[in-house]
Amino acid sequence: MNEKIVHMENISKSFPGVKALDNVSFELCAGEVMALLGENGAGKSTLMKILSGVYTRDQGTVTISGETVGDLTPKSAEHHGVAIIHQELNMCPHLSVAENMFLGKESVLPGGILNNHSMKDEARKVLRELQIDMDVDALVGDLPVSKQQMVEIAKALSSHARILIMDEPTSALTNKEIDDLFIIINRLKSQGHGIVYISHRLEELKHIVDRVTVMRDGRFITKGSFDSFTMDQIISHMVGREITNQFPRLDTEAGKEIFEVRDLNAGRMVRDVSFTLREGEIVGIAGLMGAGRTETTRAIFGIDHRESGQFFLDGKEIFISSPGSAISQGIVLAPEDRKKDGLCTKLSIRENIALPNLDTLCNPLGVVNRGKERELVDRTRKLFSVKMSDQEAPAASLSGGNQQKIVVGKWLARNSRVVMFDEPTRGIDVAAKVEIYNLMNDLKQKGIAVLFVSSEMPEIMGISDRVIVMCDGRITGEFAAGDMSQEKIMEAATHFEDKGINS
Ligand SMILES: Nc1ncnc2c1ncn2[C@@H]1O[C@H](COP(=O)(O)OP(=O)(O)OP(=O)(O)O)[C@@H](O)[C@H]1O
Ligand SMILES: [Mg+2]
Repeated sequence: MNEKIVHMENISKSFPGVKALDNVSFELCAGEVMALLGENGAGKSTLMKILSGVYTRDQGTVTISGETVGDLTPKSAEHHGVAIIHQELNMCPHLSVAENMFLGKESVLPGGILNNHSMKDEARKVLRELQIDMDVDALVGDLPVSKQQMVEIAKALSSHARILIMDEPTSALTNKEIDDLFIIINRLKSQGHGIVYISHRLEELKHIVDRVTVMRDGRFITKGSFDSFTMDQIISHMVGREITNQFPRLDTEAGKEIFEVRDLNAGRMVRDVSFTLREGEIVGIAGLMGAGRTETTRAIFGIDHRESGQFFLDGKEIFISSPGSAISQGIVLAPEDRKKDGLCTKLSIRENIALPNLDTLCNPLGVVNRGKERELVDRTRKLFSVKMSDQEAPAASLSGGNQQKIVVGKWLARNSRVVMFDEPTRGIDVAAKVEIYNLMNDLKQKGIAVLFVSSEMPEIMGISDRVIVMCDGRITGEFAAGDMSQEKIMEAATHFEDKGINS
C-alpha cells in the first residue's frame, strides 16, 4: 500500500444538541481516491471540515503526511497541503474569476499593490491545465452554477495541494464537465495526490474510486476497496437497512388537462415552448445542462421577463406577473440553487418553512398562529426525516441534503395545482431520494400536476409518466413512460448537433 498521508483517529465533534461525529477514524493514502459515503447528516462534511481547519475537533488525533497536527486553521491546513472544495459554493459573486481564485492568497507587489497581472496569468494557467474555457475577468456572479463549481475546483488546485477534498463536486456539472473532472482526478491520482471524494451520485463512483469509507449517524461503519462491495451492500451500509425499490413508480390514469403553457419565449434559452400538464401526472424535463430547463421554470414562475407566452389553468387564461402572483394562483417552484433562491440560511428552520405559508398560518390581523406553525414544521420534518436538533437553529446549520429537504418540503403545505421542482434530489442521499419520489407520488394522487427538471437519467425515466426533452431553448422530444429509452432521450437532448448551428 502507498504511503498513508492522512490518518484521523477517534474524532468526535458536537454542535449544540447534536453529536455530529462520534469516535470516527479515517485514512487516506497517496495516489488514491477514497469515497466518503453516508446519508445526509452522517457527518461527512463535518469530518472533512476538521481536516481542512474549518472546524476544530473536540477529541481525537490527526496525522498529515506523518506529522501529528494540533488544531488546524484553514491556513495551517493549507500549509499541510490540504485543500477543500466545499459542498456549497463559496464564491464572492461580485469578484472576478481570478480574484476569487486568489482570495486570501493574493500576490502583492512591493508597496502593497495587488499584482493583478501575475494573478490573472496564474489563473489562466490553472484553468488551461484543467482545460476549462473561461474568461478570468468574468464576474463569478454572472456565471452559471456549473461554471462557478469549476472555479472552486481551479481555486483548490491553484494552491498546489497534495490532499484534495471534493465535497459533492459534480452536483452542478454537465456530463461533459464531469468527464473532464474525472480525467483531472485520475491525472492527480497518478501524480500521487490523495483525493477524498464525497458524492450522492453513486453511479459515478466506479469511474474514479479506489476505496470507500461509509459513515452513518456520525459513526464509522465500514471501509474497504470499492471492488469488494456491491452497490446494494454500500447502500445498506449507508442507510442501515435494505432499499428494495429505488424508483417507486405509481401507475395511475392521468386526468384532465389542468395547465397549459403556450408559445413561451423568454430570452435565448426559452423559445416557443408549449406543453400541457394533466391532473395527477408527473412530467420530467430532461436535457443537458444549459438546455433552458431552469429558465423555462423561472419564466413560468414569473421570475424572468417573458417576451411572449400564455398560461391556461383549467382552460382559463391566467396572468403571472411575479412569483407572488404565481403562488397565489396555485403554481409553485422549488428552485435549483438552494443557497441563493431556495433558503434564507440565516433564518431558522421554522421560519424557512413558515415563510411561504404565512397566509395560511396568520389570523386576519396578521398574527402567526404558533400552534399551527409548530404543527406544520413538525409535519414537514417527519415527512422527510429532516435531521435537525432544534427548529430554531439557523437553516445554515443543517447538512446540505437536509437543507434541500426544507426547500422542497415548505411548498407542500399549500393547496397548489402545479408544483415545479428544479433538480429536487440534488445532493440528497438514496433513502431521502425515495422519500422525495414518494412525495411526488403523493402530490400526483392528490391530482396535482408535477413538473420536475432533472439531469439524472435513472430518476427521470424511473419516476415520470411523461418526459419532455429540451435542447438549446426548445422542446425537441416528448416520450410517454412506456415509450422512453435513454437513447431516445439523449438523441433529443443533443438535437442541435444534427441540425448544426443554423437551427
Ligand atoms: N455549524 C453547525 N452547527 C450545528 N450543527 C451542525 C453544523 N454543521 C453540521 N451540523 C450537524 O452535524 C450533523 C452532520 O452534518 P454534516 O454536514 O457533516 O453531514 P453530511 O454527511 O455532510 O450530510 P450531507 O450529505 O447532507 O451533506 C448534522 O446533524 C448537521 O445538522
Ligand atoms: Mg455534506
